[in-house]
Order: sequence, then C-alpha cells, then structure tokens
Amino acid sequence: MLIVNAVEKMRSLADQYRNTGKTIALVPTMGFLHEGHLSLIRRARSEADVLVTSIFVNPIQFGPNEDLDKYPKDLQRDIILAQDAGTDVLFVPVAKEVYPENFQTFVNVKELTRGLCGKTRPNHFEGVTTVVAKLFHIVKPHVAVFGQKDAQQALVIKRMIDDLCFDVRMFISPIVREDDGLALSSRNKYLTPEQRRRAGILYKSLCLAREMIKNGEKDVSVIKKCMKKEITAQQGKVDYIEIVLPDTLQPVGELTGNILIALAVYIGETRLIDNMLLHLSG
Ligand code: PAJ
Repeated sequence: MLIVNAVEKMRSLADQYRNTGKTIALVPTMGFLHEGHLSLIRRARSEADVLVTSIFVNPIQFGPNEDLDKYPKDLQRDIILAQDAGTDVLFVPVAKEVYPENFQTFVNVKELTRGLCGKTRPNHFEGVTTVVAKLFHIVKPHVAVFGQKDAQQALVIKRMIDDLCFDVRMFISPIVREDDGLALSSRNKYLTPEQRRRAGILYKSLCLAREMIKNGEKDVSVIKKCMKKEITAQQGKVDYIEIVLPDTLQPVGELTGNILIALAVYIGETRLIDNMLLHLSG
C-alpha cells in the first residue's frame, strides 16, 4: 500500500492510473477506522482496479464548539486496517495543503442541508461537500463509496454529484452495528462504559418505531413521542427525531411507501446519529 500526503503526488498518480486504463475507487474517511469504514473499503475493492482510501479530519465541517481538536486519531492502526481491507493508496493530506491561506470557494447544496443535522450543524454539510468535491478532483475516482450511517450526508453528496456533473458513480453501503445495535462510529470512543451501555437506546428506539408502525400505528407524532420517552429514560438528550421521505428529507404526511426514520441524540456530551429505512406497503 502506498501512503501519499502531497496533493500533487496524488493527482499525478491518479492520472497515471487513468492513462493506463485503470479504474479508481475512493472511500473518503476521517480516520480512526472501524468496521463501518472497513465495510466501505471492502465494497469499493470489488468496484475498481485501484482503491484509494483517504483520511482527513476536515476542519471546515466542524462547528466552533465541536470536537475538531479532540477527534480521535490513530494513524498507525489505520494504516494496518486500511491495508488489510484492500486499500492500494492511502491518501492522507495535511490541512494547510487542502485549505491554503486564501481559500474561499465552497460547495453548498441548498434544500437538503436545511433540516435534520443541518439545523444544529449549520455549516457542516458545506464543509463536507467542499472537501468531497476537492477529493474527487484530486483522486479522480470513477466510483466512490459512502455509508448509509450518515444518510443525509450521502443524499447531499449524491445531489452534488448530479448537480455539478461529477463523473463519479456513488454506492451507499449499509450501516454496520455493534451487537446491541449501536451504529459503529469513531465518536463512540468518547463514551464512558456506562454511557456506552445507554447508547444502545438509539437503535432500540428505531426498532420500537418500526414495531409500532408494523402494529398499525399511523400517527407520526405518537411514534416520535414514544421514541423520545425511551431515549429520555436512558438520559439521552434528543437533538431531533424525524420521519422523512428518503429522497427529499421532507417530513412524511402518512406512513406509506419508503420512509426514513432519523435521529440525533446526545449521550452525555457526545452527539450520536442513527437512522432506519423502511419500505412500507399500502
Ligand atoms: P467518517 O465519519 O470517518 O465516515 C466515513 C464514511 O464511513 C462515511 O461515508 C460514513 O457514512 C461511513 N460510516 C461511518 N460509520 C459507519 C457505519 N457504522 N456503517 C457504515 N458506514 C459507516 O463521514 C465522514 O467521515 C466525513 O464527513 C467525510 C465524508 C469523510 C468528509 O469529510
């Protein structure tokens, strides 16, 4: 596995691959890799000749009071994990090269970033789309893989790809969970053992919603209220619970067809997100 830090080096490597007829897959990450990331890397492995994994803790997607400075890092461990999962090139750029002093151009997807996480994290998605656009230009992938864990992020990136005519095919990979259902996340590291036990409530509340719908509950507000009650009982602080259409993220009127139940919850100081897609008949 090659480890590349310099942007120019990555661009010329990408050109070389393309000029010799090789296809490139990209898995963008912020590192501190876990099984969720590795599932994306394995998925990407089967989609192209050359697999590039990027690790970059993107400063512009963090708000002023968020966890940029304490975001977990372990590059040595990431190198081993990325290589074992099939990465050919690990691209680890430095912030001052990605955002030189006079940097002032941003990519902004409008409607889709207003709700859900966009409400409490106002500039977050602009930071995400800007860095992903840059990674696409630097790594020049034919294919990129993102996780359903960040459902809104995946939808926003898909919108950007279509709206700005990026020639990149996007795959969305399913959520990888712990035994108790907690979605894997680098931020789970912040949880104390006791908080970690309570964090299982995010997935449990999604399962509760699914059960209520299966049993005929038709009222979205009743479902949200029950989820909130369960979460609060575990001392979780709800940022949002929403039931939306998976393509537009607009709140659903009635519980039919495809729906996305999405939530963000603080367990202690740590903000965790999760979601569940349901395909309802009738
Ligand atoms: P990060 O949180 O490191 O996640 C990198 C990718 O892994 C994302 O596509 C995310 O959805 C996926 N992922 C995380 N946890 C997962 C899980 N439990 N199951 C499946 N996939 C999972 O998301 C980012 O980084 C950044 O915003 C990034 C896209 C790299 C831009 O900076």
